[in-house]
Amino acid sequence: MNITEATVEAIKTVADLESRNYDTPYPEEDLKLELQRNDSLFLCSYNDSGILTGYLIARYILGECEIHRITVAADFRRTGIAEALLNNLEKICIDHTAYSIFLEVNEKNVPACNFYHKKGFFELSRRKKYYGSADALILRKRIAHVNDTEERIC
Ligand SMILES: CC(C)(COP(=O)(O)OP(=O)(O)OC[C@H]1O[C@@H](n2cnc3c(N)ncnc32)[C@H](O)[C@@H]1OP(=O)(O)O)[C@@H](O)C(=O)NCCC(=O)NCCS
Repeated sequence: MNITEATVEAIKTVADLESRNYDTPYPEEDLKLELQRNDSLFLCSYNDSGILTGYLIARYILGECEIHRITVAADFRRTGIAEALLNNLEKICIDHTAYSIFLEVNEKNVPACNFYHKKGFFELSRRKKYYGSADALILRKRIAHVNDTEERIC
């Protein structure tokens, strides 16, 4: 598996995965703009044949990092790709002195909720009935930095 920063060549495939996986997919133009933002991190994973298997889009906000998307193509799920993308993000967060990662997820999205639970996220709050009958969970994970000597509030 190879994980690199997204390039403009990846955008069509990412847009296709967006439309297959989300009710309000990012259009190609928005994805291209994401490539240009200084506060954005856009990673893609590729398999050994060069097929784009997944991507992650996150933004840095005042010492925190917010995941906007983490998506794996259906044929490649359950092979550790989302874990690898998140592990990469955590390493980059350390370089950017981001002390926690947060995100929002539909409580009924079992694969995603299990994934975040496995990766050490905890529930910070919930937005009741944000997705119709389902709540939105706000999850957060604190990133351990090598020189941490005290609990930091971000
Ligand atoms: C959620 C998602 C990103 C997981 O990607 P993935 O590459 O399949 O996940 P991984 O292979 O890295 O799995 C890591 C862990 O997540 C959990 N998990 C992943 N898919 C799961 C599923 N279908 N059912 C239950 N647990 C699941 C498991 O704990 C798994 O560890 P294990 O395989 O050792 O049991 C993927 O299902 C996806 O793209 N879903 C559609 C888009 C989406 O909903 N994104 C999240 C928006 S908040």
